[in-house]
This record gives sequence, C-alpha cells and structure tokens, in this order.
Amino acid sequence: MTTPLEQLDIHHPDTYAAHGYPWAAWDRLRREAPVFWYEREDIEPFWAVTRHADVMTVSQHPKVFINGGGRLRMTLKGHPELSYAGRDDFGLPRGWDPDEPPDMVFMDDPRHRHMRRLTSWAYTQGAMRAMAPHFAALAQRFTAAYVDALQRAGDTGVDFVHGLAAQLPLTAVGEILGLAREDWDRLLVWGDALIGEVAPTHRRPGESRGRAAYRLLYELRCYLEEVIAEARAHGRQRGGLIDRMVHTPVDGRLLDNQQLNGYLLLLIAAGNDTTRNAFSGGVAALIEHPAQRDRLLADPTLLPLAIEEILRWTSPIGSFLRTAVADFVLAGTRIRAGDTVAIFYPSANRDERVFSEPYRFDITRSPNPHLTFGFGTHFCLGTNLARAELKASLTALLPCLADLELCGEPTRIRQTHVLGYAHLPLRLSARARRRRP
Ligand code: HEM
Repeated sequence: MTTPLEQLDIHHPDTYAAHGYPWAAWDRLRREAPVFWYEREDIEPFWAVTRHADVMTVSQHPKVFINGGGRLRMTLKGHPELSYAGRDDFGLPRGWDPDEPPDMVFMDDPRHRHMRRLTSWAYTQGAMRAMAPHFAALAQRFTAAYVDALQRAGDTGVDFVHGLAAQLPLTAVGEILGLAREDWDRLLVWGDALIGEVAPTHRRPGESRGRAAYRLLYELRCYLEEVIAEARAHGRQRGGLIDRMVHTPVDGRLLDNQQLNGYLLLLIAAGNDTTRNAFSGGVAALIEHPAQRDRLLADPTLLPLAIEEILRWTSPIGSFLRTAVADFVLAGTRIRAGDTVAIFYPSANRDERVFSEPYRFDITRSPNPHLTFGFGTHFCLGTNLARAELKASLTALLPCLADLELCGEPTRIRQTHVLGYAHLPLRLSARARRRRP
C-alpha cells in the first residue's frame, strides 16, 4: 500500500541521517501535490514546494516571499535555527539588539542588497580567476598528502571528507577573510559544529552533541570578537576581507560588532560545508558510476560539464524557507499572507519536467539548469568560489580517481539544511597499492 501524503517525512534530521535525501517522498509530492501543506506534530507547518518551476516562482517574488520573516531553515519545534542559537547568551551581556537579524540572509532588499555589496566584490569571477593558480597548487598539495595517507592506511582507508574534501574550502575561507593560519584547525572544528557535527574528541565528558555544538558556536563567536577587535586596531592595511568589512560603511555607517559577528559567521558557514559536500558527494558519484568516471578520465575537457552535473546531483542545500506577506496563487494553490513556504532545491533538480532521466548521473548533461545555488536576489554569493574549488580539487584528484574505492559504510550529516556525507571512508584499491612505491 502506498504511504498517504500526510505520512511522508521530508523534515526530520534523523530521516536524512539514516536514509539520505528523501527522494521518493519528493517524487510523490512533485507528482501528486507540488504545493503541499505539510503538517506534522514536531514542526511548525509549511507549504512544501517541490517542482523546479514553482521553486523559481517563489525565488522570483522576494516582495511576496520574504526572508525577513525570521524562519529560513527547517527546524524541529523547540530547536532554534543555529544562527539564533546562543545569540542571547552571547549577545545580551554585550548589549546586542535582539531585533537585529542574524545576518543578511534574514534581510530583504534594499538593506540586503547593500549588505551583500560589502563583500560580493571578493567573490566575483575575476577575483576567482586570479586565485585559480593558487587553488590549483593547494589542491595538488592536499591531494598528495591524502593519497600518501591512503597508501599508509592500506585496507582500512581514510575518511575522504576530513582527509581531503574539507581542506580547500577551509583554506580558501581562511585566506579570503584574512584569518591567521594557526587558527584554521579550530575553524574546521567550529565549521563542523555549525552543521551539528562534533567529533567525540571535541566533546566534554557527559556532554551531548547538541550541547557541544552550542558551546563551540559560542567559542567561535568569541574568536570572531577578537578578530574584529584586531581588524579595528590595524586599519585597512592588511588587505583581508575582514579588514575591509570593518572599515567600509554600509548606508553611511560602519557595521557594529553584532553585525560583523553575524556576517563573518555566515561567510564561514556558507563557504565551508557546502563545497566540501559537493566534492565528497561528487567523488562518491564518480566511484559509483565507473563508466562516467572513465569518460571524464578519457576526456578531461568534460570537467566543466561534470562539475555542473555534480552540483545538480549532490544539491548540498536541502531547502530554504520564506514567509508570505501577501496572498499568492502558486500552481493553482492559494498561499495566504503569514504562511511559511519551503523550497526544496534537490527536488527541483530531479524534476522530470526539466531534466530528462533526472536520476541518471550524466557528466555530459547540457543544458543543466540546476537550482543548486538558488535563484534571485539571495542567489549564492559564493558560486564562483565553489566552482573554482571544485575545478582545482577534481583536476588534482583525476590521476588517482580510478584507484579509489569505498571501504566502509558512509555516514550522513544529521541535518535538513546542509546535506551530504559526514564521513566517506575510501581506500586505494589493492592493485593501486601494489603499483605505488
Ligand atoms: C557547492 C557549494 C555551495 C552551495 C550548494 C551553495 C548554495 C547556496 C544556496 C542554495 C543559497 C541560497 C540562495 C537563495 O536563497 O536563492 C546560498 C546563499 C549564499 N551562499 Fe552559497 N552555496 C555554496 C557555496 C558557497 C560559498 C563557497 C560561499 C562563500 C562565500 C557561499 C556563500 C553564500 C552566501 C553569503 C549566501 C547568502 C546570499 C544572500 O543572501 O544574498 N556559498 N548558497
């Protein structure tokens, strides 16, 4: 018997951790109820929007579907969004304004646009072109170290996520912002905490994972306070993005510590886990589809198309929520002012109305109008960076791609917003180990 729509689960982090993306549920919704009122006991209700065209329509109407409603990510009742978590503990003693949005994603135009302009110049295509040789050199170095570790580990293998995929995104964030090199290892731990992942080694005795993530987030905010104070003291001369952010007015005023802290948290969070997950998910897909992998190896000029397919295939952001501020008819369904709407990017990327055979991983797919980076005024700020990192990372890995194999059960992040692997255990094939010195 088919599950009634009322019992489908597209909202619980445990479901995502145990079974991965809820593809079958999204398929049903796209087919039977593309704008579906989703009501469950443990979450505030929302309209689930699952078709490509409707996700676009919502994104193209930012005056009707606003970000400023305060609810942007699917969270269970009693669990605040991480961007709000700890803001009171940290902010109240420092005199922070409880009405100030955590960051620009929670704002609407024109304020959002002005805030975005403060940093967007650092992530343009031109800026990334200039960094490409540097990214290529870094990727070669990280890959060589990972392959070395694989060689030493033998049969047991090494986690690809932390062993390699996390390295370049972290370094790029650190360098662009202008953070000190010796702080990057801590940044990795804090970055994991931002998606709710805390390794047992970073938990205190008796501390739950949630509590540890909360504590680490507090630590990250303290660290950012120090970084901001230092940037204020130094003036612009060091040249990192943070220095520019501290000393450049927006709407005629310099940002205060609260605004800077939230902005930096956003740039660190958005730039780390997403690209890491696209890389690890892309490599897993290439291992799982050897014919596609061999095609890429035979013709590396296919890499740009392969990257777009990896982005469509992995879709590391599961959804964003919006608040309707006026009645709107979407695909024949009336949405009322005050309702919450959730747009599901991975579902849009499997929409059979737009992509032929959407469940076929095809590195030559073209056109490939995926919505992995969203659409409209909040369109991802870091697309050029993400693509540049993927290009450098995959280019460096190509020579040993055919030697990699899975050597254990991958685990998934327990989250509904940033999706992907928490751990992906890989090893060199026995043949490759014999071949290498
Ligand atoms: C594969 C990697 C990435 C994916 C899948 C991704 C995805 C997304 C998505 C879906 C959005 C929301 C778009 C919308 O609402 O229409 C977004 C926004 C954003 N992304 Fe990314 N992103 C990635 C990498 C990055 C990187 C490397 C950065 C580094 C700066 C970044 C920074 C941001 C920021 C700041 C926003 C908010 C933009 C705004 O509100 O104006 N992202 N991203």
